[in-house]
Amino acid sequence: MAAPLPVRTDDWWRSAVIYQVYPRSFADGDGDGTGDLAGVRSRLPYLAELGVEAIWFTPWYVSPLVDGGYDVADYRTIDPAFGTLAEAEKLIAEARQSGIRVIVDIVPNHVSDQHAWFRAALEAGPGSPERELFHFRPGRGEDGELPPNDWPSQFSGRTWTRVADGEWYLHLFTPEQPDLNWAHPAVRREHEEILRFWFERGVAGVRIDSAALLAKDPALADFVEGVDPHPYIDQDELHDIYRSWRAIADEYQGVFVGEVWLPDSERFARYLRPDELHTAFNFNFLACPWRADRLRRTIDDTLAEHAPVGAPATWVLCNHDVTRTVTRYGRQDTGFDFATKAFGTPTDLALGERRARAAALLTLALPGAAYLYQGEELGLPEADVPLDRIQDPMHFRSGGSDPGRDGCRVPLPWTADAPYSGFGSRGEPWLPQPEGWEAYAVDRQDGDPGSMLSLYREALRLRRTTAAFRSEPLTWLPSAEGVLAFRRGTGLVCVVNLAAEPAELPAHTEVLLAAGPLDDRGRLPQDTAVWLLA
Ligand code: NOJ
Repeated sequence: MAAPLPVRTDDWWRSAVIYQVYPRSFADGDGDGTGDLAGVRSRLPYLAELGVEAIWFTPWYVSPLVDGGYDVADYRTIDPAFGTLAEAEKLIAEARQSGIRVIVDIVPNHVSDQHAWFRAALEAGPGSPERELFHFRPGRGEDGELPPNDWPSQFSGRTWTRVADGEWYLHLFTPEQPDLNWAHPAVRREHEEILRFWFERGVAGVRIDSAALLAKDPALADFVEGVDPHPYIDQDELHDIYRSWRAIADEYQGVFVGEVWLPDSERFARYLRPDELHTAFNFNFLACPWRADRLRRTIDDTLAEHAPVGAPATWVLCNHDVTRTVTRYGRQDTGFDFATKAFGTPTDLALGERRARAAALLTLALPGAAYLYQGEELGLPEADVPLDRIQDPMHFRSGGSDPGRDGCRVPLPWTADAPYSGFGSRGEPWLPQPEGWEAYAVDRQDGDPGSMLSLYREALRLRRTTAAFRSEPLTWLPSAEGVLAFRRGTGLVCVVNLAAEPAELPAHTEVLLAAGPLDDRGRLPQDTAVWLLA
């Protein structure tokens, strides 16, 4: 095993590689079919060897798991299916000893309908102070039979549900995820305490779920297409909330990464002003099709929007909400859009894998922090989950047309010849692994220099030991159409060829790493990338 990474004391988050763990599907330590903290602890050596600098855990709190844990019933307790708080503390400390920091996921927009606050609000009835913590309203229409407004849900369908006493409550996601009222001081106070709770336990950062949705237009006015501001996306009040959060994070040297889906780059950058969030996910890059011109434009726009606020960019290809990279790149439409997800989309996995390898080198050569979603380093494709095993509410709320997000959440394969590919379960895991999953197992890829895992390990090793990756700006080099070529500082060059014609490499002294073989004239074939020492 590689020696543990030295813990960096600089602004590590400006250039870190951060690995996303979806605890339910990472490794099952107690064999009950669900991944857990014991599983993660047993695999820390794997993550240290991979060379990641931090782990972001998607929610691990007590939850009925209606939305994969994004329906939190208690933000200070670990779900018993995953372990205990004492175990989380151990995990945070052990990870740190391996040179890995921990980032937790906070879900401030909504709670579970099983959260004590919401149960009390239902109990207390209309007009009570308990209901003021949420958005309860009478309905419209003669008998209040119509929802209070027409806001569209983030998950298709309605955003309002009526309770027995006739009032309606707002939920931007499922009915089991009532939205909190962020105009209420108790909501702000509670979240400030939750942040402190986790920082006190040694976490290095917090990922903020649905970060641009918390504040609502107080009039709860109907949504009118094209009219600004949007009644619940990107309201100005949010910045005040994040300024107060930043002051808390600064006390602990903690960092934030915001889940901010906003196409408007100027509005996006406001969240990254020096006294607000440190970073936010770059969804424009994640959604960008595999085309040189589009990628170059997205990279340029990203760097331009971050520069004035002094925040580092983040580079993300995949997460627990989107189609896995290998599958997306193997399709005709290589971009990502929730609205166009469909069953039965033709996919060329060999093509997707080649592109995903090239995309890995592109992503890891860009200036800023990079995110890696569990299984991406194994080249996992999106799995087909049988209809009767689907659990994701996105599928059900679409009326069944959207396959949902379970296909990227299938339990990881660790050992090819073990039951359930070594995930650790005694019986079938919570989501079934598709046939052939063992081909992607860690032990199959270990030691195979041509595997995706070996590519990632080597790329992360070079990234860690090459200072240019951390500090040097990006400069584009002249290149043929369909080819991306850029330099980091004086020594490091990345070339990615998306064109049909093989590309000549610029002058160099050494090929540090290649995503695939060069041709017999030393040229870079289509959908291949290299890192050069020049
Ligand atoms: C974004 C999370 O990534 C997603 O998984 C979740 O369903 C929604 N926010 C609601 O919390």
